[in-house]
Amino acid sequence: MFRARPEAGPATVEVLVEGVPVRVPEGASAAAAFLLAGPAAIRDTPVGGGPRAPFCLMGVCFDCLAEIDGVPNRQACMVTVAPGMRIARQRGAREALR
Ligand code: FES
Repeated sequence: MFRARPEAGPATVEVLVEGVPVRVPEGASAAAAFLLAGPAAIRDTPVGGGPRAPFCLMGVCFDCLAEIDGVPNRQACMVTVAPGMRIARQRGAREALR
């Protein structure tokens, strides 16, 4: 459903989305990497378990909460990919970090 823009240049950063290696354009967000990788939902809601995907891609809706490099509740659209980054779907509620 999603693909990189043609002018984005060659994919230069490899990240792991749900444990699967994916090459994405340098400077892309973790949410964009997740969408390019293809899974339909990046998180499940805590109450009903409904699937959610990145929506606004600008830090407003919080529908992109994911576990990034082992840290839950990260807004994936606000995180720039880095080589080897691990992006995982977040299922339900997570504890707030102190
Ligand atoms: S997609 Fe809306 S806050 Fe990240």
